[in-house]
Amino acid sequence: MYARFFGFDLTPGQVHIVGNVIDPEVTRLIVSAVTQYGKTQAVSIGLLTALLRSKKKTRVLFIAPTTDQTNIIRKYLAEIIASTPELAAMVAKSGRRRAQDLAKETSRKRLTFTNGWEFLTLTAHAAGEKAGQQLMGHGGDIIVCDEACLIEDEVYRMRISRMLGNNPKAKLIILVNPWHRRNFAFRAWRNPKFTKIKIGWRQAVAEGRVTREFVDDQKKELSPYEFTVLYESDFAEDTEDTLIRWEWIEQAVKHKQTLGASVMRVNGLDVAEKGRDLTILQPAVTDGSRYILGQPVIIDRDETIPIAIEAGSKVPKGQLINVDSIGVGSGVWSYLKQIGHRANSVRVSEKSTLDPDRFANLKAQRFWILRRLFEERMIQIPDHPELKRQLNAMRYELDALGKIRIVDPTDKSPDYASAAMLCIFDGQRPPQVRHA
Ligand SMILES: Nc1ncnc2c1ncn2[C@@H]1O[C@H](COP(=O)(O)OP(=O)(O)OP(=O)(O)O)[C@@H](O)[C@H]1O
Ligand SMILES: [Mg+2]
Repeated sequence: MYARFFGFDLTPGQVHIVGNVIDPEVTRLIVSAVTQYGKTQAVSIGLLTALLRSKKKTRVLFIAPTTDQTNIIRKYLAEIIASTPELAAMVAKSGRRRAQDLAKETSRKRLTFTNGWEFLTLTAHAAGEKAGQQLMGHGGDIIVCDEACLIEDEVYRMRISRMLGNNPKAKLIILVNPWHRRNFAFRAWRNPKFTKIKIGWRQAVAEGRVTREFVDDQKKELSPYEFTVLYESDFAEDTEDTLIRWEWIEQAVKHKQTLGASVMRVNGLDVAEKGRDLTILQPAVTDGSRYILGQPVIIDRDETIPIAIEAGSKVPKGQLINVDSIGVGSGVWSYLKQIGHRANSVRVSEKSTLDPDRFANLKAQRFWILRRLFEERMIQIPDHPELKRQLNAMRYELDALGKIRIVDPTDKSPDYASAAMLCIFDGQRPPQVRHA
């Protein structure tokens, strides 16, 4: 059942993908398969196989969301071409003579072959460019959207579907890890015109693409949502997931933390906008890795200076206070500084300092670190019903670019949860531990 293509022993599922890529009758194809199954590789193999068989001039657009992803595609194509003399000989202007000429040619955005085939590898969301910019003015006979859930629907509607309109005979191939139902990938999945291939972890294990042990480890490592997407290959029902699970919260109340010898006291201050929600001061003590949160304190004032004075009176000078300094908080932060407090301004809407590709903003980064503390049992919290409820009500989702974004509960502003998020370190600067 395993067949050899360009030096790869393809599994039955991969052969099935290649067959559908080659089959001219299949003009709409969507593949949802376990991560690292070989979707991108199998489609690259299928396209190059078609190229060798067909005499018809064909333009292939291979579109990926990010530059990294586009580079993976180019690498797969280049490797196969380099190891297949028949293909290497067909690379226009090539390269046949010298390996580095060929490598240069195959690393380009446009790769042309002497039989009239042409590959364009394009990035839908390249850094520093408007979404979809690279796609402008292009069309293709075969259009592949790799990692399609991470390509914004707007780009599909404005650019890709237009290409299909201009060339009704074009073939569309969509590859997904099915992160959400919000774009063209899910519409394709439900569209009867599409040939669908779904490969979950059971098949991938049976075919030897992944081991059962690895899948079991991943099941422990990932959230149920992530596992559903990456290993069951099912389109996630909902993009939102609980940020901090109830069992982690219960555990954080019960399990007493022991801190190292050097500890410091830190505080988070979430300032309420006038008349709405509460201003909460959340004290904590940490040794730099583990945290013990104290009882949250309500600051019952609603003008900037009284809030600052009241909060300041609860925190000895010299202790760090992280203040959410968006809106009213900005005045509170500057007044605290003015009266000699170690107040630190945190603007959660700003860019993530740790990994802007992973986190939509600093808020996501900080809440994610908080989640890890709970998950890894590195945090102890008081048995405070509202704090617990709010922590458990936080949700996260992956936006169209696959970045983590925090979703506030709709009923009520999560002031206790925000103060808890503010009192921890943001993962960027290691805390200077001193004796408290
Ligand atoms: N049949 C095979 N034999 C050997 N290696 C393979 C085979 N199929 C895939 N691979 C390798 O497995 C890795 C993952 O392949 P690929 O990137 O195509 O997976 P994917 O399904 O597109 O993953 P992702 O979910 O990350 O997009 C690559 O290194 C690829 O070369
Ligand atoms: Mg891939």
